[in-house]
Amino acid sequence: MAPALTIAGLSVFYGRRAILENLSVPALTGGSVTALIGPNGAGKTTLLRALAGLVPATGSIRLDDVELTRLTIAGHARFVTYMPQALPQRVALTVFEATLSALMSSREGGLSGGGLSSGEAQARALRTLERLGIGDLAMRGLDELSGGQRQLASLAQSIVREPTVLLLDEPTSALDIHHQMRVMQLVEELARERSIIVVIVLHDIAQAARFARRIVVLEQGRIAADGSPGEAITPETLARVYRVEARVERCARGFLQVIVDRAV
Ligand SMILES: Nc1ncnc2c1ncn2[C@@H]1O[C@H](COP(=O)(O)OP(=O)(O)OP(=O)(O)O)[C@@H](O)[C@H]1O
Ligand SMILES: [Mg+2]
Repeated sequence: MAPALTIAGLSVFYGRRAILENLSVPALTGGSVTALIGPNGAGKTTLLRALAGLVPATGSIRLDDVELTRLTIAGHARFVTYMPQALPQRVALTVFEATLSALMSSREGGLSGGGLSSGEAQARALRTLERLGIGDLAMRGLDELSGGQRQLASLAQSIVREPTVLLLDEPTSALDIHHQMRVMQLVEELARERSIIVVIVLHDIAQAARFARRIVVLEQGRIAADGSPGEAITPETLARVYRVEARVERCARGFLQVIVDRAV
């Protein structure tokens, strides 16, 4: 059965300020992509960090029968992989070494790399780079990559682990349109093939609507909309949450398009 992640009554404070307050999200299930969208400062990164166990949170985050809020950071890492919005700089590893070491560290945590021989682990690391279209960067140092290349390398480190829950914070923000599509296609395929629960933060609403089966809209730490792209993305929601006048139309292939006319 596909895994399910259920958030109930979740609150996160920075100092005395509530960033997320009593947030509840009905079960996110493995097998398809959920997009998390919302304005700057809405709390998207904070929510992903709470799901990854990186900020103290109260309330419940349940993965099937496991209460994640009771686990240590290492315990979380057995189930959840988080790709941060801001990437670490200056790591003296090649792209291949970094991908392989992400996979090996997941083995200790008992993720799907657990039973791999070192040859199999190397093959999987290379295959991941190739699926992202960066096989040719394998032997390059992380510190000599362009911004977009570094983002792809970081993504490789997250997806090679094939976690139960994959959290991606704006993973395509620095990518050209070819690599944006490639990443979104791959993430959607992985979700489907491996029944992974994928939550991806995006600012591109049309892209979210194209690849996500479900869209959760966050506004000032609260859920403003949650449903299929057609349910969550409406001119009314866009006006209320983003303060824009926008039209939502379907293209010839039936995908939602968002045409923003002006900020109000
Ligand atoms: N370490 C921190 N200490 C104090 N406040 C913080 C901290 N990190 C974030 N915040 C505040 O929490 C709120 C939510 O921030 P968060 O990073 O979750 O937003 P976001 O939705 O990811 O925005 P963006 O689209 O700009 O990435 C913001 O008001 C931000 O200023
Ligand atoms: Mg953010």
